[in-house]
Amino acid sequence: MTTTAEVPGDLVVDFDIYDQSLAFPVDTVQDRVAELAQKGPVVYSTAHGGHWIVTRYKEIHDVLRDPETFSSYPNNLVTTTAGFGKFIPIELDPPEHTGYRLALQPLFSPNRMKALEDDIRDVINELIDGFAGKGEAEFISEFAHELPTRVFLALMDWPIDDAALFTDATDIILTGVPGASEEESNQARAEAAFKMLGYFQTVINQRRADPGQDVTSQIIHTEFELEGGKRLLTDEELNRMFFLLLIAGLHTVQGSLAWSIIHLVHNPDQRQQMIDDESVIPTAVEEILRIEAAVVPGRRATRATELGGVSIAAGDQLILMLCSANRDAREFDDPTRLQVDRQPNRHLSFGAGAHRCIGSHLARIELKLALEEIHRRIPDYALVDSDPAVMHSSQVRGCARLPITFTPES
Ligand code: HEM
Repeated sequence: MTTTAEVPGDLVVDFDIYDQSLAFPVDTVQDRVAELAQKGPVVYSTAHGGHWIVTRYKEIHDVLRDPETFSSYPNNLVTTTAGFGKFIPIELDPPEHTGYRLALQPLFSPNRMKALEDDIRDVINELIDGFAGKGEAEFISEFAHELPTRVFLALMDWPIDDAALFTDATDIILTGVPGASEEESNQARAEAAFKMLGYFQTVINQRRADPGQDVTSQIIHTEFELEGGKRLLTDEELNRMFFLLLIAGLHTVQGSLAWSIIHLVHNPDQRQQMIDDESVIPTAVEEILRIEAAVVPGRRATRATELGGVSIAAGDQLILMLCSANRDAREFDDPTRLQVDRQPNRHLSFGAGAHRCIGSHLARIELKLALEEIHRRIPDYALVDSDPAVMHSSQVRGCARLPITFTPES
């Protein structure tokens, strides 16, 4: 493994993706990452025991497409779930990964997700009904958090009343405890994970005995092609898969919805273009995804290699700054500019290669329908200067609070 002493001095940077001061009170993550990208495609941070930070499109794409050299375990710099095991399928490498992936993928296919459109639009309008008459809302708790949570719960057929339990748990797992030491945060993460496992086990027991048409039942009752034969998943495997689905599917959509509002407020001409012509919304969704990629995937080198002119040793940890890949001028014209009709737009926000996001079709539908209804019903939304957005920085970047005002619906 590479030690800090072995890294050329000009590549060592002071950057910790879990440092909340990067994101609040002023969100400086993108500016800081742009500085790192100026230094080179691969730089080195001493945070969390030392790790490489990959900043450019080409190198990030190369890493994502080479799981033999760059294992996706561990994906996280912090010990999220001590003693819990690998998240399935994200922390498994091919060929072990393949059977789980092939079984899970059809459950989130474009056609299946498209069939949910009417239900998702109903949820969106119900949520907007809750605040449209007030002329103000806390966009996260009243909309951006609720939408992916309700859609996901309906898909899995888990009781909506349980939402608060796993919202708290996933918050702690992703961002730790604000203001606490790393050790305290890790302790809280382990406790939150333990609580979730108890919850999943109850769901598993219930669906084993009494299956429905939901995704939970289908995962539990599908025989997966694993280790050369077909078999059902064990309780432990199911736990590690449900946990990942929860972590992957909620905060990412929440953050992207918040960034939609923030970037469109700052780009009124682009917002007007969407209001005038709804058909631009699908490319606008891609542009929002491009300009602020939520996820910062982690990888670990399985062997010595070279990346972007830098020697990487076996066992070295890396994080991949998709948010700066998406602003790489070698790949995108005028990359810091939001352009809702941008085409082509080969952003990496859903990753690439073996682990490319399984939920991308669902996420795109949630974002598209939300932008349609928001711009139809409360198009003149504004931010509140005296109560600014609370963003957070971690390997799933996002937004915890976003007050907005708008002309109330009569
Ligand atoms: C805007 C929303 C979303 C973004 C930006 C996003 C981003 C990503 C990224 C970058 C990866 C790859 C990570 C890596 O290579 O280490 C990933 C994987 C994954 N995502 Fe998403 N995601 C989103 C929404 C969702 C949703 C809604 C779901 C499901 C309900 C989901 C489920 C998954 C799963 C299961 C994987 C692992 C796939 C595998 O390992 O084969 N995601 N996502």
